[in-house]
Amino acid sequence: MTAMKTVYYTATSVDGFIATADHSLDWLLSRHSDEDGPMGYNQFITAIGAIAMGASTYQWILDNEPGEWSYTVPAWVFTHREFPEFEGRDIRLTAEPADIVHKQMAAAAPGKDLWIVGGGDLAGQFADHGLLDEIIVSIAPVTLGSGAPLLPRHLELKVTEVAPNGEFACVRYEVAR
Ligand SMILES: NC(=O)c1ccc[n+]([C@@H]2O[C@H](COP(=O)([O-])OP(=O)(O)OC[C@H]3O[C@@H](n4cnc5c(N)ncnc54)[C@H](OP(=O)(O)O)[C@@H]3O)[C@@H](O)[C@H]2O)c1
Repeated sequence: MTAMKTVYYTATSVDGFIATADHSLDWLLSRHSDEDGPMGYNQFITAIGAIAMGASTYQWILDNEPGEWSYTVPAWVFTHREFPEFEGRDIRLTAEPADIVHKQMAAAAPGKDLWIVGGGDLAGQFADHGLLDEIIVSIAPVTLGSGAPLLPRHLELKVTEVAPNGEFACVRYEVAR
C-alpha cells in the first residue's frame, strides 16, 4: 500500500505570506484557532504518515522551539546545510529532487497522507512533479506586505471545503491536474 494524499497544510496572511521577511510568525501565533475545529490540526495530523519541510522552516523550529520536536512520523528536511538533529527522532536531511523524496516518504507512510509543512517553494517543487494533491490554508486576518510566499507557482485549484475557525478563514483546495 502506498501513501494516499500529499497535502500542503499551512497558515497564511490574506496577501499570501506564510512568514514575515525575517521569518517571524508572531502575526500567526498570537491568534486564536480551535485545533479540534474545522480543518483543525488535531484531526489533520492523525492522517499524516510522513512530513517534509525546507531549511528555513527547520531553522525556525530550532530557533523558536529549542529541543522540541513535536512530530512522531518520519521527517525529510530539504537542505544543503549541516543541521543538528533531534536525538531519537527520525529526521532525514536531503537535497534530492522532490519526486525521489516523495517515493521515500510514501514508502515510509503506507496508507497515510504526506504533509508538506513548507515553505511555499518546497510545496511548489512537489507540485512541479504533479505530486501535490491538496492545499489546506488557514487565512489569518492580516496582511504582511512582504515575506515568505505561500506558493509561488501557477496552479489551478478547486475549492472543496470552506469554514471559519477562530480568527481564521480555512479553505481546502484540490489541486487540479
Ligand atoms: N505559516 C505557517 O504555517 C508556516 C508553515 C511552514 C513554514 N513557515 C515559515 O515560513 C518560512 C518559510 O521559509 P522559506 O520560504 O525560506 O522556505 P523553506 O522551504 O522553509 O526553506 C527554503 C530553503 O530550504 C532549502 N531547500 C529548499 N528546497 C531544496 C531542495 N530541493 N534541495 C535542497 N535544499 C532545499 C534551501 O536552503 P539551503 O540550500 O540553504 O539549505 C532553501 O533556501 C519560514 O520562516 C517558516 O518558519 C510558516
